[in-house]
Amino acid sequence: MDGGVAIFRAAPTAVRSHDVEYPYRQDNDLLYLTGFPEPETTCVLAPGSPHPFTLFVRPRDREREVWTGVRAGVEGATSVYGADAAHPAEELAERLPKLIEHAPVLYFAPGRDTAFNQRILDLYGRARDNRARTGAGPRGILDPGALLHEMRLFKGPEEIDAMQRAATISCEAHRRAMRETRADSFEYEIQALVDYEFRRRGATGPAYPSIVASGANATILHYVDNARRMQEGDLLLLDAGAEVDGYCADITRTYPVGRRFSERQRALYEVVLRAQEAAIAAVRPGASFDEPHQRAVENLVDGLITLGLLKGSHDEALEQGTYRRFFMHRTSHWLGMDVHDVGVYHVGDGSRPLAPGMVLTIEPGLYVPADDESVDAGWRGIGIRIEDDVLVTDDGARVLTADIPTSIDDIEAIRNAP
Ligand code: GLY
Ligand code: MN
Ligand code: MN
Repeated sequence: MDGGVAIFRAAPTAVRSHDVEYPYRQDNDLLYLTGFPEPETTCVLAPGSPHPFTLFVRPRDREREVWTGVRAGVEGATSVYGADAAHPAEELAERLPKLIEHAPVLYFAPGRDTAFNQRILDLYGRARDNRARTGAGPRGILDPGALLHEMRLFKGPEEIDAMQRAATISCEAHRRAMRETRADSFEYEIQALVDYEFRRRGATGPAYPSIVASGANATILHYVDNARRMQEGDLLLLDAGAEVDGYCADITRTYPVGRRFSERQRALYEVVLRAQEAAIAAVRPGASFDEPHQRAVENLVDGLITLGLLKGSHDEALEQGTYRRFFMHRTSHWLGMDVHDVGVYHVGDGSRPLAPGMVLTIEPGLYVPADDESVDAGWRGIGIRIEDDVLVTDDGARVLTADIPTSIDDIEAIRNAP
């Protein structure tokens, strides 16, 4: 940080309605750095100073704590969370100018707490005025993400452990859903089952709203209504992942609501599965981030042409992107504390090389719109995605979500188990 000082702010609380708030979720940058879960917190990092790690927190308050629960307080901020110094949140305005007065640069990323953003700008303005008199003080504001998000991109052993636990719990929930899905029940029953399994196995809950999309709903990428009655003959696309200790899993499986895939469903599913397997096989240190996507697209294009869903040659389909009618998203994103995690995808003018410690999803899909009259009616309204979470290791890749199968035989075995 070259002598700079960084400021991180807790996520604001959010009102759901009237006097009811949404469950509180800490800002991930602050959570990554401190583990501190409470609102109204500010973290100041000043490497090289007598107190490199300072927290401003809600003080203990017996009366408030009776209503909203025990706080760590100033005491806990140092003794439990390891801050070098801690102060009540209300002392921030008085103390912050002193903390930044000699810093050559301020690190701060504007967040959702807009009032706080303004306070930092005001603070910076005053420090700038002082610089004219004292010759010292920040000459700019830099985004701490350039440093911090690189750190978050590479997962350490404790983080990988949390991600594996999130993945394992998610696989157990998917397995139960795959076993218990029945025609004539509602999508929200599967949502309830999955969310219940997450919670009862110790996860915080879903890492994002579970997508339970049957029939043509599976062609809506972020379908979250989950309100339809499932029918014999449908496929069910279930995209659900748990959050454990702040880390996410993100899994999709697509399986028949009845006991077996139909012929058309099977044909399309096998194309997506081949694409997914080829993409996973392309994950290794030194491969570019784009490589799994390229492998997936090539396989999808071959399959679509073979099935008569795409006209023209393989190369034409790739060059003109005609496959995007059926595959309109990317194959991968980083995964970590955020489900679409931080970290840049491109360096220079190229796709970034994969390296050990990175975790990414591999999630090709095919979605044939229900009203697409340019294709044979039998294909319409079929949506398939297969999504796994993959850790790049020294010698290749580890699929964190391998406990829930993807092959048609394995899925049909689960659907037909007594
Ligand atoms: N569940 C969101 C995604 O797959 O990216
Ligand atoms: Mn995903
Ligand atoms: Mn997903």
